[in-house]
Amino acid sequence: MSETDRVALAFSGGLDTTVCVPLLEEEYDYDEVIGVTVDVGQPESEFEEAEKTAEALDLDHYVVDATEEFAELCFDAVRANASYQGYPLGTALARPVIAQAILDVAEEQDCTGLAHGSTGKGNDQLRFEAVWRDSDLEVIAPVRELGLTREFEQSYAEERDLPIEGGDEGKYSIDTNLWSRSIEGSELEEPGYVPPEDIYEWTSTPTEETLEIEVGFENGYPVSLDGEATSPVELIEELNDLAGDYGVGRSDIMEDRMLGLKVRENYEHPAATVLLNAHAALEDLVLTKEERDFKKHVDHEWSEKGYQGLVNAPLIDALEGFIAETQTRVTGTVTVRLEGGQARPVGRESTYAVYSAEAASFNTEDVTGSIEQGDATGVAKYHGFQERLANRVIDGHDE
Ligand code: ARG
Repeated sequence: MSETDRVALAFSGGLDTTVCVPLLEEEYDYDEVIGVTVDVGQPESEFEEAEKTAEALDLDHYVVDATEEFAELCFDAVRANASYQGYPLGTALARPVIAQAILDVAEEQDCTGLAHGSTGKGNDQLRFEAVWRDSDLEVIAPVRELGLTREFEQSYAEERDLPIEGGDEGKYSIDTNLWSRSIEGSELEEPGYVPPEDIYEWTSTPTEETLEIEVGFENGYPVSLDGEATSPVELIEELNDLAGDYGVGRSDIMEDRMLGLKVRENYEHPAATVLLNAHAALEDLVLTKEERDFKKHVDHEWSEKGYQGLVNAPLIDALEGFIAETQTRVTGTVTVRLEGGQARPVGRESTYAVYSAEAASFNTEDVTGSIEQGDATGVAKYHGFQERLANRVIDGHDE
């Protein structure tokens, strides 16, 4: 045991995590709090805010870069066509990465506790703690445990002259990383409320303009844009800019949270939409019907675990065994048209295409050397045989 009891706090510089700093000393008897901000592709302004707030609080502040690791996880999600109720899982996938990075700093700094500023209503508390509770450190969630409200936090911060001008002046709760930007809270909670355009920062209002781009894949991983090889981080950033300009990747959904709450959520995720649509289009070309059908179940299970923040589950490894086997053929290119807020695959090519021009064409006869049109007659006679028989039996009973 160290003489000083030190706690590592997941720190953003927002209101929740700012009030956590004095609370961890006063209510939880820690001698020292360190703040850890993990970079998963938030905008520069968030780091500036965290840095400024940390300085004003005299908080030891650590910034860890996890962008590459996070981008790679997003690409695993692409291979799994991952989406939860229409949400490509940005926040959900980032949490375990953030939690692990904070745990690593905490252990290096001889901390005895870990804290986050999540409330007791959301998913993030569960995702953080799923990772942290695997360690021996004490896990603390001051906002949840002390039952804090935004109003209380606001007046507490004012009383103590805590630096809160930087952030949280907006009325929405926003969580941004490479893969998605979520906008929640205030009137947006009302499912019938139509969001104003100004909630969107990554996506423009769609116009008549269109653009065609070509995404290259190797083994199901996105590897290039318009023929140029790119790293995962670069590709995501580039596509967020490019497709965002065409209004691609907005979703407005009713989301069933892990604790059972049904919540209205708004998201922006241009790159995720382009890459997920393109990837699915390539799978459609190279996988057999049976593989496509079965993979939907695998992808669904992957997405559920992803949403729960349990990407380290043994089930994920097992699912990825199947996914990896199928992705050996998901190599090729997809042309995607950005138009009207959509990213629509309009062309796909692969040397693994399960497609034969000769077999599919209506204009040729017996070109495969093995199948003739006439061979279908027998199949056509049998097709629906059982249904015809069953209907006859049913009719017989009705008479
Ligand atoms: N509902 C989404 C999720 O659970 C987004 C959460 C956003 N988090 C936040 N602290 N604003 O993944």
